[in-house]
Amino acid sequence: MLLNTKLQFIWSFGCGKGSFIAKLAVLNPNINYIAVDLVDPMLGLSKRNIEKSYAEAGRENNNIILARHDIERINFFMSKEDVVDRIYINFCNPWPKPKHRKKRLTHTKQLMLYREFLKDGGEIYFKTDDDGLFNDSIKYFQEAGFEILDMTYDLHENNIFEVNIETEHEKMYTDEGKCIKALICKKIQPKEDERK
Ligand SMILES: C[S@@+](CC[C@H](N)C(=O)[O-])C[C@H]1O[C@@H](n2cnc3c(N)ncnc32)[C@H](O)[C@@H]1O
Repeated sequence: MLLNTKLQFIWSFGCGKGSFIAKLAVLNPNINYIAVDLVDPMLGLSKRNIEKSYAEAGRENNNIILARHDIERINFFMSKEDVVDRIYINFCNPWPKPKHRKKRLTHTKQLMLYREFLKDGGEIYFKTDDDGLFNDSIKYFQEAGFEILDMTYDLHENNIFEVNIETEHEKMYTDEGKCIKALICKKIQPKEDERK
């Protein structure tokens, strides 16, 4: 159940098993979190991880909601009237084949949908192990009117976040010896001559 008094709304797209959002929400009780995944068993695991995090903190969850949605179709359930402050996209599927790239959650086509409900100056925090996805996403963010505020090709050597909370996939790829790539970008107004 969300409290009306909370001012910020932060979403996690493709939350997976949810331990990231569970830890983040416990640290920030004055922010509302909405964690979305497409797969029911992931949401079940997220629910248990959220309950565990709150039990360890000795509190009850009053700031995370779990939702089953397809982010590719987010425009069917979110619109201009919804105001989102920040979106986390952690280790989304890299869809390496050219014919599948539009399915990437950071593709320009997707980012244009997020622009509808992300407030001006709202941020996207993105992490991946995949070099191809990361380099392409830098271009996608710029094409879709986002300014890159900070980025790194090795998050664990050069942390760009206030606090980095490791996700399940981050741990797995780090254990395999892969570097984690990350960036923070913010929604800016397109220049007058770029507006359609
Ligand atoms: C590679 S896992 C990463 C999970 C988690 N974020 C992490 O870092 O450990 C990608 C997750 O995104 C979810 N997902 C993939 N496509 C999605 C979509 N179109 N809408 C919502 N969730 C999606 C998958 O079900 C999966 O749980």
